[in-house]
Amino acid sequence: MANVVVVGAQWGDEGKGKIVDWLSERADVVARFQGGHNAGHTLVIDGVIYKLNALPSGVVRGGKLSVIGNGVVLDPWHLLKEIEAIRTQGVEISPETLMVAENTPLILPFHGELDRAREAQISVARIGTTGRGIGPCYEDKVGRRVIRVADLADDATLELRVDRALIHHNALRAGLGLPEIDRAALLADLRAIAPELLRYAAPVWKVMTEARRAGKRILFEGAQGALLDIDFGTYPFVTSSNTIAGQAATGTGMGPGAIDFVLGIVKAYTTRVGEGPFPTELTDADGERLGERGREFGTVTGRKRRCGWFDAVLVRQTCATSGVSGIALTKLDVLDGFETLRICVGYELDGARLDYLPTAADQQARCTPVYEEMPGWSESTEGARSWADLPANAIKYVRRVEELIQCPVALLSTSPERDDTILVTDPFAD
Ligand code: IMP
Repeated sequence: MANVVVVGAQWGDEGKGKIVDWLSERADVVARFQGGHNAGHTLVIDGVIYKLNALPSGVVRGGKLSVIGNGVVLDPWHLLKEIEAIRTQGVEISPETLMVAENTPLILPFHGELDRAREAQISVARIGTTGRGIGPCYEDKVGRRVIRVADLADDATLELRVDRALIHHNALRAGLGLPEIDRAALLADLRAIAPELLRYAAPVWKVMTEARRAGKRILFEGAQGALLDIDFGTYPFVTSSNTIAGQAATGTGMGPGAIDFVLGIVKAYTTRVGEGPFPTELTDADGERLGERGREFGTVTGRKRRCGWFDAVLVRQTCATSGVSGIALTKLDVLDGFETLRICVGYELDGARLDYLPTAADQQARCTPVYEEMPGWSESTEGARSWADLPANAIKYVRRVEELIQCPVALLSTSPERDDTILVTDPFAD
C-alpha cells in the first residue's frame, strides 16, 4: 500500500486543509509529525466548518485512526479544548480513534509566555511567531528538560521533570523581568489533566509499524511549509521544527522506507506571514489584489499575509529538499483576470545570476527576482473539474510552473470545494 506525506512547499498556508481532507477520506491512519497548534487547518465537510490546530484532519472522518506523533509539540490544555469543541460538532473522539505518542513534548504555559515576551521586545530578535510557545518547547526538548506525555503517569518523575525545567526557566524569566513560575500550581494543573490526556497515550511508533505491516494506508499530515523549516527555511525567520517530508519518519518513529509518495502543496502565487525575506513580495495594487481575492488572512493569528508572484526558484528548491513526487497546485482561480502574470525564474545577486536561494541572510535579503512574463486569462477557472474547463493560458501557466520547478502536477485545486479538483496522478495508487 502507498503511504503519502503531504507538506507545504512554500511558507505555509498553501491550502493543505482541503487536500489533506480529500486524501484522508481514503486513508486508514492520519498522522501529524511536526509543529503544534501554531497550525490552522479549516475543513469544510457537507457545509460544516471544522477548525483544527493540533488534531490531525482525519478526526472529522469516522473510522480512521488519528495520530499525534513525537515530532509534534503538544499543548495538552489546547488539545483537550479542541477535542471538546469538535465533540460538540458531533464528532466522536476516543482512545481508539486518537493516539498521542508517549514521547511527545508538552507545551506548558511558560513556553507561551516566553515566546510572547521575546516577541514583545522591540529588538532584532522578533520573528513574528504565533506566540503559542512552539519555539521554547522545542528548545526544551533539545535541551533535555521538556516534560513528555509519559511523564504524567508517575508523580515522582513529573516532579523531577518540572524541577529540571524550572531551574532553567526561572533564571531566564528573571532576566526578562517575568515572575517566578508557581511550581505548586503548575503541578496541580498537570495532575488535573493527566488522566484525561493519558487515555490517548500510546507507543505510536509501534502502532504505526503494525498498521503499515497490516497494509493500512497512512497519510502523514505536514504543517507550515518547507521554507519555514528549521534547517532549510529562511533562518531565523522560520518555525522551530523540520517541516520537510523526511520529518514524517522521525516524527512518528518509522523508517524512511515508509514513505512512498510526497505531495507538495503549492499555491499558484506566494504568501508569507511574519517577518523574513520574501523576494517576490508585492507591496502594490497587485499584492493587495492577490490578498483580497485569495482571502489571505492567518487562521491562527488573523494577521494579513504578505503576497507576491509565484517564485519557481523557491519551489524547485523545496521540491528537492522534501523529495516531492508531485505537487497539488492550489488557488489558481485567484490569478483569474490578471492581464499579465509574472513568475520568478532566478535571482540576481551582486551582478551574478543564481538559480537557488542562498543560505546567508544578507544575501537572501539582497536577491532580486528575475521575472518571466506570461499572458493572463480573463475567464474564470473557479470550480474547474477537468483540463477542458481551463482557459488555454491557464494551462500554459500550469505547464510552465511544472517545467520550472522540475516536478509534475498531481492535483489541481480550483476552489475550496473538495470536488473542484483535477486529478492527474493518484498519490495513493500503488
Ligand atoms: P512559530 O511557529 O509560532 O514559532 O512561528 C514562526 C514563524 O512560522 C512565523 O513567521 C509564523 O508566522 C510562521 N508560522 C507558524 N505556523 C504557521 C502556519 O501554520 N502557517 C503559516 N505560517 C506559520
